[in-house]
Amino acid sequence: MRVAIVGASGAVGQEFLRVLDQQNFPIDELLLFGSVRSAGRKYTFRGKEIEVKELKHNDDFKGVDIAFASAGAGTSREFAETITKHGAIMIDNSSAFRMDDDVPLVVPEVNGDDAFNTPRNIIANPNCTTIQMVVALKPINDISPIKRVHVATYQAASGAGAAAMDELVEQYAQLGRGEEPTVEKFAYQLAYNVIPQVDVFTDNGYTKEEMKMYNETKKIMHAPDIEVSATCVRVPVMRAHSESIWIETESPVSLDAARKALSEAEGVVVFDDPANKKYPMPLDIANQDPVYVGRLRKDLTCDNGLSFWVVGDQIKKGAALNAVQIAQYMLAHGKKF
Ligand SMILES: NC(=O)c1ccc[n+]([C@@H]2O[C@H](COP(=O)([O-])OP(=O)(O)OC[C@H]3O[C@@H](n4cnc5c(N)ncnc54)[C@H](OP(=O)(O)O)[C@@H]3O)[C@@H](O)[C@H]2O)c1
Repeated sequence: MRVAIVGASGAVGQEFLRVLDQQNFPIDELLLFGSVRSAGRKYTFRGKEIEVKELKHNDDFKGVDIAFASAGAGTSREFAETITKHGAIMIDNSSAFRMDDDVPLVVPEVNGDDAFNTPRNIIANPNCTTIQMVVALKPINDISPIKRVHVATYQAASGAGAAAMDELVEQYAQLGRGEEPTVEKFAYQLAYNVIPQVDVFTDNGYTKEEMKMYNETKKIMHAPDIEVSATCVRVPVMRAHSESIWIETESPVSLDAARKALSEAEGVVVFDDPANKKYPMPLDIANQDPVYVGRLRKDLTCDNGLSFWVVGDQIKKGAALNAVQIAQYMLAHGKKF
């Protein structure tokens, strides 16, 4: 198996190197790509140094079976043809193709079989906040279809990339020295702050990130009638996104039934013992594979309502791990590369 990572130097690209190894993914040759900025840099994978090549419009992807792309939507759009033209399957972390009808948008625990319908050789990895939410919604939706979701997110700095993590660390250091903090990656200073804006605003008053949760949830869950209203917030956490989720189902779902379904669901860990102060928090969940659910309770305003708290490592399950799991799902279900 020849595998490529496009955007190897980035937050998600670096996670791909770790996840592919942790998952023992079958690889005969790994190729790394980046822009001119990281070309020539070397990264170690399974004891071997690999040099980053500059991504160009050439035949470098000839013989590549799977290309994991995490170099932003512009790069994915510009290079999709170059990456896929010799038959490579491109599993893309950007938003470039997610809502295209001829590109599947896949979370293996929810709609793994969609990965087999790839007329353009492209599979899209959903937005990170959507991935961890639908993994938790699916088991409850299987009991009674979900009509409505209200979600508020608490999104880590690393969701904005490697440079954003550095900026948050630097802001605390600058403030500690009594200096003005550098603000480049976020709309405002993030240190000691929360910012109710992730991505840019659209005409309806929601941000693009919030509309991704609205649109992508419908597509992944094959549920055009699910309505999702999101408020996405950036918080000064380094890694792992948290979400406060309220759902309304068609018929009432008991707490016991919801807890059982979540406990048995693939990719979910229920960590919910409030009497002993046990609930998932990003500090504990960073670098973990599953999505954690806690604070499960009946909604006080609606018989068919449930509320819960979901935390997931958005660089892992929200990006690199989900993409690798798509490839693993395809291999396990008979795809020959
Ligand atoms: N961070 C997350 O939690 C997260 C989660 C889900 C999805 N994503 C998505 O994943 C993608 C990458 O995010 P990230 O957080 O890893 O960003 P990042 O840390 O800023 O890394 C960006 C990567 O893209 C590469 N790149 C940029 N322009 C390129 C070009 N023209 N040709 C080749 N490579 C190029 C960069 O390489 P150089 O170093 O050479 O510039 C770098 O490796 C984005 O589409 C993002 O929306 C991120």
